[in-house]
Amino acid sequence: MSLTPSLQAIRDDIHALSAYAVQDAKGFIKLDAMENPYTLESALRQALGDRLALVDVNRYPAARVQDLKRALKAHAQVGDDLELMLGNGSDELIGLLDLACAKPGACVLAPEPGFVMYAMSAKLLGLKYVGVPLQADFELDMPAMQAAIELHRPAIVYLAYPNNPTANLWSPTSIEALIAQVSAYQGVVVMDEAYQPFSSDTWLERMRAQPLKNAQVILMRTLSKVGLAGARIGYVVAHPAWIGALEKVRPPYNVSVLNAECALFALEHEDVFKAQAELIVAERARLTASLSQGLGLTVYASSANMLLMRLHPEVWAPLAGVLGAGPEVAHSLASHVFGGLKAQGILIKNVSTMHPLLEGCLRVTVGTPQENDAFIAALAGLLKPPKAH
Ligand SMILES: Cc1ncc(COP(=O)(O)O)c(C=O)c1O
Repeated sequence: MSLTPSLQAIRDDIHALSAYAVQDAKGFIKLDAMENPYTLESALRQALGDRLALVDVNRYPAARVQDLKRALKAHAQVGDDLELMLGNGSDELIGLLDLACAKPGACVLAPEPGFVMYAMSAKLLGLKYVGVPLQADFELDMPAMQAAIELHRPAIVYLAYPNNPTANLWSPTSIEALIAQVSAYQGVVVMDEAYQPFSSDTWLERMRAQPLKNAQVILMRTLSKVGLAGARIGYVVAHPAWIGALEKVRPPYNVSVLNAECALFALEHEDVFKAQAELIVAERARLTASLSQGLGLTVYASSANMLLMRLHPEVWAPLAGVLGAGPEVAHSLASHVFGGLKAQGILIKNVSTMHPLLEGCLRVTVGTPQENDAFIAALAGLLKPPKAH
């Protein structure tokens, strides 16, 4: 006899959610999740294996995690006036920040389209979430942001710098104005620099140079995009008072000894990861140039390891045999191209239905030169130029 337990105890809003779906990518050219496509060469893999073999997994994480904290502070040049806290990926840190600020009626605000976990985490932890649309060019809509902040007085404003999925950096002057506005009522702005290794700017420099102006700022980073997505190491940097408060909600052993050892190893070989990031940035330029030529696409400028591109329905809908009008054409076309690439073993992300500003948009992670060539060829095959009349 099969037994079905009662889930009565689970919150109604949790029943209504779907679990985060991770696509099975086995055998695919994987360009969907902003991972570093490069693995370590075999001698380094062996050396890492040797290091991990010496880790005492019978003990709770302790001293080595403190070593990692120190190593990351040195690596990121955090300085003596700021403190650092580790998380099991930035995803966990977003949850801990929300948890720490979840006073009754508290609110989280972020520009949209943006990283989905800001809304997801707020909802899970019972905070109100407010999304403010970006401008059509994906720059911050300052009147809308300032009005929403004035109205909702969010405890936390998340700004991804660069943003996901639009891949751009927002105007520093605009960000400074938002920080001033949020600081005035003692809220906090989280500068999420998940894509910093590929970016030309970092807010950390301003936090060091202008500590007073940035006292209400928490910087968040991750080692995921630079090559350790599997090891789940994120960190926040802020005034020690912020870190002291956040430490109270951090599960004591949130970072595994194996992950910490792996990250320490990576920092000792930071030249290898830096060289890989440089290759990715060079490939980003090549991919942008190739995709911008004659495919009927808009490719947006990127400061991250992903490219956002928009298919133009008026050019391509007839080719794809897509019927309909308005946003539906763009969505059908995006899923036609996404499906066509998948059928050829290439996995990217269809973001067309994620937000009205992304109609007809696809996001691709920058891969190795071979992967990018395969992607360009497959895409060009799907988007054959319309015949001249
Ligand atoms: C803006 C942004 N922040 C944070 C994350 C999560 O990173 P982690 O792997 O450290 O949880 C992502 C992942 O895609 C992201 O795009």
